[in-house]
Order: sequence, then structure tokens, then C-alpha cells
Amino acid sequence: MVNDFDIKTKISQFSSFSDFADAFQLNANDLVITRASIYEPFIQKLHLDCHFILQNQYGNGEPSDEMMNRMLRDLQGVRYDRVIAIGGGTVIDIAKIFVIKDIQNATDAFERNIPIVKAKQLVVLPTTCGTGSEVTNISIAEIKARHTKMGLADDALLPDHAVLIPQLMENLPFKFFVFSAIDALIHATESYVSPKATAFTRLFSKEAIHIILDVFKAVAENGSEFRHQRLADMLLAANYAGIAFGKAGVGAVHALSYPLGANYHVPHGESNYQFFIEVFKLYNEKQPTGCIQEVNRMLEKELQIDAHGDYRLLYEKLSALLSHLIQRKPLHEYGMQREEIATFANNIIVSQQRLLKNNYIPLTEEEIRKIYDRLF
Ligand SMILES: [Fe+2]
Repeated sequence: MVNDFDIKTKISQFSSFSDFADAFQLNANDLVITRASIYEPFIQKLHLDCHFILQNQYGNGEPSDEMMNRMLRDLQGVRYDRVIAIGGGTVIDIAKIFVIKDIQNATDAFERNIPIVKAKQLVVLPTTCGTGSEVTNISIAEIKARHTKMGLADDALLPDHAVLIPQLMENLPFKFFVFSAIDALIHATESYVSPKATAFTRLFSKEAIHIILDVFKAVAENGSEFRHQRLADMLLAANYAGIAFGKAGVGAVHALSYPLGANYHVPHGESNYQFFIEVFKLYNEKQPTGCIQEVNRMLEKELQIDAHGDYRLLYEKLSALLSHLIQRKPLHEYGMQREEIATFANNIIVSQQRLLKNNYIPLTEEEIRKIYDRLF
């Protein structure tokens, strides 16, 4: 039976990392996976006797099976019964694999060659305001052994606790703040128009859209440093969006961003940003009546514009706000070649049905090609 709504992860908020460490009684049986940029300012001074893995020592960028396997090798003989992930999407995606019983090789997990059975508790502290991964059951990694990206979605990977601490985002550079928040905005809008959306998921999507655009407007008006006043709001909005898409899914924007991330290593949020406006304009063009009208009304309200039904005007206004925060680049600037447009579009149709089935309405291969062409 599919429920309209449920959330298994317990969510809590703390004002500082040390308050969290006390409340959760971090100890020698905990494996903490994080990055030096978080460890040094917030964790080191507490002299905790947990076992630490610093992901940046295993490579940068998106998570891969090789990265995970090197960590697993270094952990041989280390006993831990709880995994604490403190980081952005990469750290969280890695940590989700470490809760699997008898995990020795991450590739086996992604290919489901081993049973996906949960053996450890998982506590997740996001340090960006984007992924919502602290409340979802999916891990995505580059499987270098197979030259592809794969997702593993299984309730065994669901975090037991999501812990929101705005302090951990204090050092997040402006660029990553914006890209991750745009990713959260896309989670909220794509899940709102998904055929799997329910009245309950839409409640979370709607509030996330409201908060994110409100913060974006304030930052556009007051400058990038102003974001520090609103970190708690943004972290909450990203979590709401995660709750919504954990249930309703995301669609074409994420699907189209996949080849750009896989082939040119464009970070997830930045890659999604490329396609967001064009996909929603096409949705409006193809099927103007339906729940997309509700999204448009929300946008009109937040952007303080009466577009009189002209979706182009509305989405141009949204695009202008996002560009004011950070400029979008044409796809060729990432190294993409024009000849790849057809291959990418075909790959998406062949391999991204998991996401495309959550589209507001189906898109054809030709339409996907046209979007790439326009953004090239
Ligand atoms: Fe995303």
C-alpha cells in the first residue's frame, strides 16, 4: 500500500554542533564522515573520541565507488554502530552506503549483488541548503568500474535522524549557498507538479518555494553577506523540499542535468540550474492547465508580478532573480560539444525513466534535444 504521506526520519534542530554532540552522546562507537572544512572549525575543539573519516582526503567532487572503497579499506577492523554524516551531498551519499550490513565493496551495493540490509544507525547533519538527502532513501554515485552514475534507492538507507544546525553553513561560500538553494527550489517545484504529489507533499513544496524565494529576494536586495541572517530559514526550506521530493520524486530537470554532471563533472545544483527555467517553460507551453498553474500563482505572488497568464514573462522574471544571484553559463562553456546534444537526449530517454516518470507531462526526445540546443 502506498501512503499519501509518512516520514520515518526523526528531525531535530540545534543552535551549535557542541549541543548536538552532547545530546547525541557522540562516542568511540561512532564513525563520523565529514570534511576538513567542517571538522576544523566546528568539531576538532571538542576532542571527541569518535572515529573520523575526512572525505576530502579521498578526493573531491561527486561521490564515487572508488572513493567509498578506499574508505572501507581504511576502516577494516574499526568497530562502529552509528554513522554520523556531516556534510553536503557527497558526504551524505557516501555515509548511506556505510550502514549496509557487511559492506566491503560499494559497487556491489549499487548493483544489488549483496542484500541491502541496514546494520547501523544513520544520523545526518546537512552543511549545505540543498540536497534534502537527510530525509531521503537514495544514494547516487559515479560507478567508475562501470563508467556510469547509479542511484541506489532503498529504505535501508533512510537516515534515522536528520539534525539541522545552521551554524554548520556559516562557512559555505556564496556560490555553493546559491547553487544548493536553487537545487532545493527545483526539488520543491518538480515535486509539486509530479504525478506522485499528494496534498501533504505539496504543503512542504509550497512552504519551501515561499521561503527560498523570500531569501533570494532579500539577498538580491541586500548583498551576498545578508545570507548569514537567513541560514536557518534556508536549511529548513531545503529540508521541507527534501520531505516533498522524498515522497513525490523529481523529474525532467534532474534527468537533463545528469549527462552534464556525469561527463563534465558539473556539480549537481549548478547542473540542475541550467535546465530549470527551460523545462518549466516547456511544461507551460505543452500543458498550460493543471497544477503548474498553482506553481505559477505562487511565483507571481513571491515575485510580486501580475503576469496576466503570460508564463514567459513570469519565468523570465524568475530567471532574472536567479541570474542576479549567480549567472548561468552556456553549456559549451563546460566543455560540452554540439555533437553531443543528440547522444545526451537519447541517453536521457533510455536511462532516466526513473526520473522522467515524475514529469508534469511527458517530454519527447526531440523536445529534450531542443532544450539542450537552446542552452548550448
Ligand atoms: Fe537535486
